[in-house]
Amino acid sequence: MKITINGKVAKFSSEQHKTLLEALEQQGFDPHYHCRDGFCGACRCKLVSGNIDYTLEPIAFIHPGEILTCCAIPTSDIELDLEQ
Ligand code: FES
Repeated sequence: MKITINGKVAKFSSEQHKTLLEALEQQGFDPHYHCRDGFCGACRCKLVSGNIDYTLEPIAFIHPGEILTCCAIPTSDIELDLEQ
């Protein structure tokens, strides 16, 4: 699946990546993170378009339209707004 981040493109493959955060790191992006477990909210970013599923139920507070990359996997091509 295609991930567009701030206009740049990355790929997500469920065979290679367990989470969206992992896919971004492996492809040279520098996403924020801390707990990697859905608790802290550090990996929060805006989902501009597309759909995701969570691998575990996130605990951290997020605003509508935001996702936690550490426990998300895309279920369609997605576009993210990542603060750098
Ligand atoms: S890194 Fe802590 S919620 Fe994602």
